[in-house]
Amino acid sequence: MNESSDRRSVGALHVKGEFDFMNPDFFQQIDRIRELPTLPAIVLKVNQMLQDLETTTDQLSRVIETDQAMTAKILKLVNSSFYGFKSTISSISTAVIILGFNTIQHAVVSLSVMKSFALLKNLKRLNIRDFWHHSLAVAVISKHLADHGDKTLSSDCFTAGLLHDIGKLILAEFFPEHFEKIWMTTVESDISFVDAEKLENTVNHAEIGAYLAEKWFLPQPLVDAIRYHHSAFSNDHRASAIIGIADLLVNASDPEGRIVLPDGLPDAPAFLQPELQTLSGWYPRLQVEIASACQFFMEPQGN
Ligand SMILES: [Fe+2]
Ligand SMILES: [Fe+2]
Repeated sequence: MNESSDRRSVGALHVKGEFDFMNPDFFQQIDRIRELPTLPAIVLKVNQMLQDLETTTDQLSRVIETDQAMTAKILKLVNSSFYGFKSTISSISTAVIILGFNTIQHAVVSLSVMKSFALLKNLKRLNIRDFWHHSLAVAVISKHLADHGDKTLSSDCFTAGLLHDIGKLILAEFFPEHFEKIWMTTVESDISFVDAEKLENTVNHAEIGAYLAEKWFLPQPLVDAIRYHHSAFSNDHRASAIIGIADLLVNASDPEGRIVLPDGLPDAPAFLQPELQTLSGWYPRLQVEIASACQFFMEPQGN
């Protein structure tokens, strides 16, 4: 069997039967996709190093600096308006010291994921620029909600927001017939993508994204935030509640940042309530930040 027919047979898969998040057959099919996006070895190395509490700033910096393009892009990112250190950080080790292991890990992951997904070629129903625009908007809004609700989650929430819907990319690229069917259900029944997945009794894109994130050895909080972003918003899964609410807000807003929520504010955990009450004051202002995130992350990356 050649590569393209192999791929077609995977793409032709339809998930049948009960709605089962952990349907092993579906995930085995994902495992068999040869062109599944991979992350460069440097990301896996960084993820492994950060699981080891003994890792030092020097060791981490040396690994990142073996990739010159990554080093340049991270320095550009940490000196951008996201972190408020305009052009003062000139080395990875300084960036690690000032911003912390967590933030640097997230920068490496975000840049690498966007680069590896840029190689997908067969997306038909899904406009990749619209997809990343939505994801970056959710990332910026999520970070804002975390900054004002639980600062310990700010860095996780930006990256989780960026990655929350990557399962849709896997479906669109490798399971086009299935994606088409879900897409048509959203149009015909005027419902959201995740509701169409429920209606069709399939594994949903949140589970698929989390599965991929686990395969990439991403930190567990990111995996969980992706997995539960369409689950009930609870205080126990704070990051996924933030991502889910940011997703609702972005989907309910126009390009100028005006939000129309026909059913009122989402039912959010108490730690997010104060910020949601003042939504109309801050939400439109963040459009500038969303635009600059799009400019930064969506510009072509070198090798
Ligand atoms: Fe989603
Ligand atoms: Fe989304």
